[in-house]
Amino acid sequence: MSMRARVLSTETPALFAEAVRQAAALLRSGGVIGIPTETVYGLAANAFDSEAVARIFTIKGRPGSNPVIVHVAGRTMAQRCVKAWPEVAQKMAAAFWPGPLTIVLPRSNVIPDIVTAGGATVGIRWPSHPFVQALIQACDFPLAAPSANRSGELSPTTAEHVQKSLGNQIPLIVDGGASQIGIESTVIDLSESPPRLLRPGMIHAESLVAITGDLQTNDNAHSGILRSPGLLLKHYSPKARLVVWQWFEEAELLSRLSALEPAGARAQIIAHSVIPTTLDASRVSVIPRDAEAFARALYAELHRCDEAGASLIVVEAVPETPEWQAIADRLSRASQV
Ligand code: TXA
Ligand code: MG
Repeated sequence: MSMRARVLSTETPALFAEAVRQAAALLRSGGVIGIPTETVYGLAANAFDSEAVARIFTIKGRPGSNPVIVHVAGRTMAQRCVKAWPEVAQKMAAAFWPGPLTIVLPRSNVIPDIVTAGGATVGIRWPSHPFVQALIQACDFPLAAPSANRSGELSPTTAEHVQKSLGNQIPLIVDGGASQIGIESTVIDLSESPPRLLRPGMIHAESLVAITGDLQTNDNAHSGILRSPGLLLKHYSPKARLVVWQWFEEAELLSRLSALEPAGARAQIIAHSVIPTTLDASRVSVIPRDAEAFARALYAELHRCDEAGASLIVVEAVPETPEWQAIADRLSRASQV
């Protein structure tokens, strides 16, 4: 199939309304399209239409065993997708929705098997991005949407990233600007007691514990049981090899790079604290040492390094505090070989 997705701007109220209209029309007829969200761009289809959702799996090359998040606009729509709405879900929704939190609960029978990969639970998120909210309201059905990248690759944070990876397989991408959060949502399983953090995100474990009181985490990611395929060790990866290093002065970085010749000579560096000043400026990106700013910029920088044809990306190690946990998680998965 050879096409190139049309990209619709949402920059003015009139363009926004027209993008909602065209996107909703495609979704109603079973289409799959690229949409902006505040975390990363999504590849969306009508969550109630199993054939449309099946197309998402084909387009992404996604294993059928990996369930897809269902995006809703409002708590009533969320409640329709689940069997029961426990107190803890109510509290989580009140604290973090709309926003970058996915709640996993036993599914109701309106959710087709393909969405949950045949499992008994469904992941639900009410995103805050104004375009998705307007779109879901216009459709009046929830949207199944994984990140809009080929399976295992980097998530997209701009319409252009989606165009480059999947643009030849979908008719439409809505441009809602660069994603404000920049990494995927926190996923918490409320079907277990105590709740289990399945995927760290910018709503970090400490904030969750404030509500759940107790939280199991996946320190068993290396064990055989795969509770959430996003826990695959190698995931969220750029094309280039990625390494995370700490250096206390530039000379230390330079000597480690020269030990890695020839790859070291062409490496791209992403730094936040000890900024190399003697390397060619085109090889160095600086992201502020601020977890939110870092998350917002990280994937765009990794996409840019891939575009620049880097064979090695060196990322300066990040702090080991709760705010940085999701970033450290993504860097660690991206650096698996
Ligand atoms: O921020 C996000 O969550 C983005 C935007 C588009 O909303 N979506 C996203 O979807 O990252 P995806 O498919 O790339 O990652 C969803 C993760 C996967 O690790 C999947 O295994 C897990 O959520 N997941 C979804 N439903 C689940 C379920 N019922 N039980 C356990 N894990 C689930
Ligand atoms: Mg993904």
